[in-house]
Order: sequence, then structure tokens, then C-alpha cells
Amino acid sequence: MTSPAIRDRTVLVTGGGGFIGSHLVEALAPYNDVRVLDNFSTGSRDNLSSVTSPQWTNDAPTSADGGFDDAGGGGDAGDAGDAGDARYDGSPTIIDGDITDPMALQRAARGVDLIFHQAALVSVAKSVDAPRRSNETNLDASLLVLDQARQEDARVVLASSAAVYGHPDELPVSETARTEPTSPYGIQKLALDQYARRYHELYDLPTVALRYFNAYGPRQQGPYSGVISTFLEQARSDDPITIEGDGEQTRDFVHVSDVVRANIRAATTDAVGEAYNVGTGDRTSIRDLAELVRDAVGSSSPIVHREPRPGDIRHSRADVSKASRELGFETRVGLESGIRSLVAETGSEQGRSTSPPQEQGQGQGQGQQQQQQQQQPLTARPERQSQD
Ligand code: UD1
Repeated sequence: MTSPAIRDRTVLVTGGGGFIGSHLVEALAPYNDVRVLDNFSTGSRDNLSSVTSPQWTNDAPTSADGGFDDAGGGGDAGDAGDAGDARYDGSPTIIDGDITDPMALQRAARGVDLIFHQAALVSVAKSVDAPRRSNETNLDASLLVLDQARQEDARVVLASSAAVYGHPDELPVSETARTEPTSPYGIQKLALDQYARRYHELYDLPTVALRYFNAYGPRQQGPYSGVISTFLEQARSDDPITIEGDGEQTRDFVHVSDVVRANIRAATTDAVGEAYNVGTGDRTSIRDLAELVRDAVGSSSPIVHREPRPGDIRHSRADVSKASRELGFETRVGLESGIRSLVAETGSEQGRSTSPPQEQGQGQGQGQQQQQQQQQPLTARPERQSQD
């Protein structure tokens, strides 16, 4: 069993009742004093009910990580003891409040060492419908978080997005690629991402922005929640699986357990003031995804097409070399295994999982993943290095 990388800290997870936030809370709560700030508009308290038996590990960093000693106090990540040695009751303190409310944020952040800023309106489509409303949550509130972190002298790990790149000139897309977002959501995440880096430069605040590619996993639900959960619901009810556009658009789907691990790395690295891609380095077309989900469910749903989505990006695939080099981060869960476990886990009750997906083995590089992808023809088309 590995050692927890973060322990005996006071940690705030904004959006901790949501999809990614609740998995993060689950990993941290047995070893830390965790607070959740959430208005439960899209997240839920049910998402926080299983944190006494963490599914994902808050495991120790690799040698590429800098540890968390620089923040002062607490134990060393490398010799922190056994992960079974949980000293907290695993229940986060819940602050029911809106991230845009400075008073609620101030209360939630008082005395924290570390903030994981996950609260956001994640729907690209909704940001197109209501740009100012999504800007308030995704950008204005992020500035409040950064300012509050300065007050508390706390490290901040922020959820940025692959949406900052817009239509990439070439794939895989690296952190130095041109950023030309195609939606208000992408613009907001780009501004957040740049503020995070500038706050490090200007005020010496330890910040890390994680550019999530397409995260999926248990507890992702609701009408705007992401294509895998939508397809899964449609396949389960034998309803038509609705592809927007021709289905040739591609995404890099990353399992939530890997996203959690990237956050833990970001919270313990010395390489702050940076943005990192969080993806697998593989990509899958939406059409292949529809077939993969339908097969995994054993459904007879027809696959239908409707209008493409305004502001949609065409292709996306992460260059993961910087995260690998600086954070020691490698993904462990392949798409096919992730989807199969999702189907099994959510069969009876959304997100109440006891069996995490089979991991591919630690330290697996991008090349190995591509090789495996070829052995799993359902998941992928041959790689194309440029946009079509
Ligand atoms: C997603 C995330 C966003 C994240 C970004 C990073 C969600 C809701 N959005 O945006 O927060 O920052 O990835 O890349 O998780 N599609 C269909 N049929 C459907 C639903 C979607 O064909 O019923 C298509 C969409 O047109 C799109 C693709 O699937 O081409 C992915 O859509 P979606 O899951 O909403 O994610 P992104 O827009 O990529």
C-alpha cells in the first residue's frame, strides 16, 4: 500500500459535491481536514456519502515530485505511513454556498493550506447560451479564489481546460500551442489559466492550472454533463444515441481517477506557476465512442446524427510529456476498461462504486498506450497527426 501524499492539511475543495470534486474529496478526506464549498446546483450531497471508504488513492508522489514540505507543517509525503492509517473520520465539512459569494468563500477558506478549485459551469453549450452567467462562475469566482488564497497563503490547484486551445494547429497539442478558444467557456478557462500563472509571478502565490481534456467516470450526470454519460444513459434505455455532427470529431477521454491523481501531483510539485495538460495522449472519435458504449451496455440503440454543436472543437488530443516530466504523472486507466467499469458500477445506482477500473500499470507512457489502443480496435481510429 502506498503512502498518502497529502496529509494533516486543511484543504478546501470548491465544487467538492460535483463530479471531479467529490472524487478528490474521497481521496483526501481520510487523511486531511477537508472542507467543501458547493451550492449543489449540479453536484449533490449523495456524492459525498462514500468518502469514508476512499476508492481513489491519494498516493505518494514519484521521485519527479517535489513533495509538499515547502508549504510547511504536516508529514513528509515519502514516509507518511501506510495509507490504511487514516486519522480523520473521512467526512468533509460542508459549506453550502455559492462560489461567487465572497463571504461564503472567505468562511470556507479561513486557515486553509491548500485549495483545489473545481467549481465551474462545465457545459460549453451553456456558456454559448449564457456567456455572462458562465463568466461569473468560471472567471469572476476564480479571481475571488485566487485573492482568498493570497490572504491565506495557500497553494491553489485550478481546473483549467483543453478548451483553451480551440482548434489546434497540430496534434497532440502541447501547453505551448496557440490558444484560440472557440467558446465563452474556453475564453473563461484561458483567462483563469493565465491569472493563475500571473498570480504566481506577481505575488509569489503557488498556483498550478490543470488543463483537463475530456474527463469521465462515475457521478458524471445530468443533461449537460459530458458525452460519455449521455451516451450511456441513451444506450441503457435503448433510446437513439445522438451524435452531434458527423461523429468524426475526436476527444482525449481521461478517467476521473487519473484526474484526481494529477491534482494530487499538482498539489505536491515544486514546479508551480505552470499549466499542465491532463489527458491520456490518445484520441477517440465520437462515432467510435458511440459504438463502444453501445457494445459495453449490450444495447440495441440506433446511432443517429443531429446538427453539429456551435462552438464545438473538431479534434483534441493531449501532449502529456510536460505533466509526465514535471509532475511524474501518467494515466493508468484506458478508455475501454474505464467504460466497462463505468457500465458495471453505475448499473444499479449512479456512482456508488466499489470496484475501480482495471489500471494499465503505472508508468505507462504514451507510446505504450498507443500500442494498446491498436489492440483495442473499438476505441480508436488510426492516429492522424494533423487536423482534418
Ligand atoms: C468537455 C467538458 C469541458 C472540458 C472539455 C475539455 C463536459 C460537459 N464538458 O467539453 O468541461 O473542459 O471537455 O476538452 O464535460 N456530443 C455528441 N452527442 C451528445 C453530447 C456530445 O455528439 O449527446 C459531442 C459534442 O458535440 C462534442 C463531443 O461529443 O463534439 C464532446 O462533447 P462534451 O462531452 O459535451 O465535451 P466538450 O464539449 O468536449
